[in-house]
Amino acid sequence: MPELQELPESHIFQTYGIVLLENKHRLVKKLKRHYTPSIHGHKAWNSSFLLMDYFLHTKLLNKQQRVLELGCGWGPTSIFCAHHAGCQVTGTDRDEDVFPFLELQASMNQVEITTQTISFEKITKNMLSEYSIVFGTDICFWDDLSRIHYNLINRAKQAGVKHLLLADPGRQPFFDLAEKALARHDGDLHQWYCNEPEYFDGFILHLNLQ
Ligand SMILES: C[S@@+](CC[C@H](N)C(=O)[O-])C[C@H]1O[C@@H](n2cnc3c(N)ncnc32)[C@H](O)[C@@H]1O
Repeated sequence: MPELQELPESHIFQTYGIVLLENKHRLVKKLKRHYTPSIHGHKAWNSSFLLMDYFLHTKLLNKQQRVLELGCGWGPTSIFCAHHAGCQVTGTDRDEDVFPFLELQASMNQVEITTQTISFEKITKNMLSEYSIVFGTDICFWDDLSRIHYNLINRAKQAGVKHLLLADPGRQPFFDLAEKALARHDGDLHQWYCNEPEYFDGFILHLNLQ
């Protein structure tokens, strides 16, 4: 079990060795006066905890590895990768209003995350070629996102990305994507659970692209 850390104030929680903020935290409330994430990037979603757990079990992450997060929102998994393994992390999102929340949480965990405002569709092969691992959590929630991510996966393969991982609570667009991607690429769809910060289960699509 993880070491219990004494938390300095309310509305902060600990998970997988990092600390994150709830919506009711005083600094989050302050940021919300100026920034309004508009595509569901308004909290740390549970699929991010699933992927943290999966990363711990699979030992995929190494120090200095360059990893890219798609649709990072407040960046819980990006922060985990930088904190747990010392990865060089880039967090991307179409909604620039998520980044002040990511930066606040990154500084609380004493890590640096590079951020970039860009949509999934605009991420090029050239950009992907800089990363060995690309991942996203809870980013396949609308029907058209299946096609968009399928095309992105194919670009990642051509760019030489080794692993592409998507965690999801189990929405239909995600299953449609998983079926199509696994028909073309090597990989698995894992049913997974985690116990931090509380019990949650869902799915991890792990594609071995090399
Ligand atoms: C449900 S939230 C998940 C956030 C984060 N991954 C997590 O698990 O906490 C979905 C995120 O995807 C971003 N997003 C939605 N559509 C996008 C697109 N077309 N390109 C890039 N980011 C997008 C949203 O802004 C939001 O931050």
